[in-house]
Amino acid sequence: MNHTMRPGNFIALEGIDGSGKSTQIKYLREKLNQNGILCYTTMEPTDSPIGSMIHQIMTGRMKADPRVIAALFVADRLDHLLNDIDGIASKIEEGVTVLTDRYYFSSYAYHSVDMPMDWVIQANGQCRQILQPTVTVFIDIDPDTAIERIAKNRFHQELFEKKSRLVKVREMYLEAFRRLRDTEEIVIVDGQKKPEEIAQEIWAKVETYVRSEKKEVL
Ligand code: ADP
Ligand code: TYD
Repeated sequence: MNHTMRPGNFIALEGIDGSGKSTQIKYLREKLNQNGILCYTTMEPTDSPIGSMIHQIMTGRMKADPRVIAALFVADRLDHLLNDIDGIASKIEEGVTVLTDRYYFSSYAYHSVDMPMDWVIQANGQCRQILQPTVTVFIDIDPDTAIERIAKNRFHQELFEKKSRLVKVREMYLEAFRRLRDTEEIVIVDGQKKPEEIAQEIWAKVETYVRSEKKEVL
C-alpha cells in the first residue's frame, strides 16, 4: 500500500436481531464525525441483487437449503467488498472509515446453528483475507428483550427472528468469539442499558482502536 495513503478503519457491529445495532451505528458515526473522522455506513445483507434474493428467502417467498443460504451470504459479502460502484475494500484503501451493520461474525453465528462452524468460517475465508475488521463490536442482549423489541416494530417475524433460534444464535456468537479471540479484535458491550450509555461504552472502547491506527501512520 502507498505510504501516503492512510487506510480507513473498518468497524463491524454485531448482535442478534433487535440488539440495537442500527441505533448504535448512528451514535458511533456521530462520535467519529465529531473527532474529524468521516464515515461510510453500510449493512449486510446488502441491497444488491444477491441481497434481494436473501431477503426473499428470509421472508419465505423463496425456499433454499441452509447451505445455499450460507453461500448466498458469502457471495453478498464478497460483492459488498469488491463491487466496482461502492465496494468497501477500495473505500478503506482510500482512507474512509467504514461502519457496517453485520459482517462475517453474523455468518459464523447464524449459520452455525444448522452447520458446523468450521465450514462457515472456511466459506468466509476469502472475505477475511480481503478485509478483517479493525474491531468487531458485539451488542449483547437477552433474546427475550430482543423479541419484545422486534414485536413492537414489525408485523411479521422473519425466519431468523424466532426466539429459540435467537437463543442459539447468541450462543454461537459467543462460541465464535471464544474460538477466534486470538486472531480478531472483539469488544462486547451490554445492550440492556440505555442507548446513550451503550453508545458511551462503545466509544470508550472503539476510540482506542481508532487512535492507535492513527498513531501508526503518523
Ligand atoms: P438492530 O439494528 O440490531 O435490529 P435496532 O437498533 O433497530 O436494532 O433496535 C431495535 C428496536 O429496539 C428499535 O425499536 C430501537 O428503537 C430499540 N432500541 C435500540 N436500542 C435500545 C436500548 N438500548 N434500549 C431499549 N430499546 C432500544
Ligand atoms: P435484517 O432484517 O436485514 O437485519 P436486522 O434484523 O439486523 O435489522 O436481516 C438480517 C438477517 O440476516 C438477520 O436475521 C441475520 C441474518 N444474517 C445471516 O443469517 N447471515 C449473515 O451472514 C448475515 C449478514 C445476516
